[in-house]
Amino acid sequence: MTRTALTHLTLTDFRSYAKAELALDGRPVWLSGPNGAGKTNLLEAVSFLIPGRGLRGSGLAEVGRRLPGEPVGRAWAVAAVIAVDGEETQVGTGLTEAGAARRTVRIEGEPVPPGRLADHQRQVWLTPAQDRLFLEGAADRRRFLDRLVFAAEPAHAVHVAAYEKALRERLKLLTEGPADPAWLDALEARLAEAGALMAAARARTLAALQVEIDGRGERPFPAANLSLTGEWEALATGGADLAEIEARLGPALKAGRDRDTAAGRSLTGPHRGDLMVIHAEKDRPAAECSTGEQKALILNLVLAQSARLALAPDAPSPILLLDEVAAHLDSGRRAALFDEIEALGLQAFLTGTDDHLFEALAGRAQGLRVDASGLAPA
Ligand SMILES: Nc1ncnc2c1ncn2[C@@H]1O[C@H](COP(=O)(O)OP(=O)(O)O)[C@@H](O)[C@H]1O
Ligand SMILES: [Mg+2]
Repeated sequence: MTRTALTHLTLTDFRSYAKAELALDGRPVWLSGPNGAGKTNLLEAVSFLIPGRGLRGSGLAEVGRRLPGEPVGRAWAVAAVIAVDGEETQVGTGLTEAGAARRTVRIEGEPVPPGRLADHQRQVWLTPAQDRLFLEGAADRRRFLDRLVFAAEPAHAVHVAAYEKALRERLKLLTEGPADPAWLDALEARLAEAGALMAAARARTLAALQVEIDGRGERPFPAANLSLTGEWEALATGGADLAEIEARLGPALKAGRDRDTAAGRSLTGPHRGDLMVIHAEKDRPAAECSTGEQKALILNLVLAQSARLALAPDAPSPILLLDEVAAHLDSGRRAALFDEIEALGLQAFLTGTDDHLFEALAGRAQGLRVDASGLAPA
């Protein structure tokens, strides 16, 4: 078990913050303040400390501070000191000039590719945007699952990106034809390789999450039975190894060329996979559960992945971003959530509109109030 925490955080021209600086002591952090005060903005800033587009999935120009009337966001920066078992590393990211196409990442002052951020910490998050996860299309659930996988295996993001890029190129060739068969072969080989890795990683994470959920005993959060419904994930779950999945996916893509051309989309592959969640006690699919039950099921998945990483001897413990989660829980479940976070030694960032949501954390967390004038200790 490693303990990971941000000990210092600086925001410059990030969303509503012209400048904000926080010293953190490694305990959970709660943020309270009215709607629009900047609570989610702060969590979003933290979420740029891992590779990717942050917890809102925003464009890089969007997050730069913009005054009313300003057409584009400014250059921005988020910098932090990350302590892993007490050993500190300085990381920073942002746009060095407004309109830059890529974000800059520095670790200990040295420019590095964004992927390197995953060497220093992992994150798991839950936001109000995920409230409708079980009611929306499979793409959102895939993305949610992929984020959980990514927290355990950062290479997963690389495989997903490579797969999606090749998939777009293949479809373009097919639909804009005439397609060069050798080039299609090459793309399909790339898809088969990355797709097998993706399906296997999803199956691995899901199996580990199920073990974690089943082994956690009595808790006030509903247990879930998890499964993957995609054909390729099912192969991985059934024990097929990478070579076998790859050897079947490549020919399946090739055989599907005409069908995909006619459909104008790619009909087979792990980009079609879905996550199925059943409320274990009620034996009911999550989509049929109450809004509160759905929220609790998702929270439990997020906690299970956090616990799994926090408790594994060789995995880095994640930083947990829980946006507007506390308000959805009754006081008993809220207390149970805080207890779990504390027992796992996680640095969680929690937001809510009222201080009283965090009363049970008194003395065991750092409280901050956010309003139009900025951040202040609670
Ligand atoms: N690029 C930006 N530049 C300046 N302000 C922004 C930018 N993007 C969002 N905001 C401001 O941030 C506010 C939302 O902050 P947010 O953190 O979502 O609030 P909450 O505390 O409710 O979570 C919006 O009201 C908007 O005024
Ligand atoms: Mg918010």
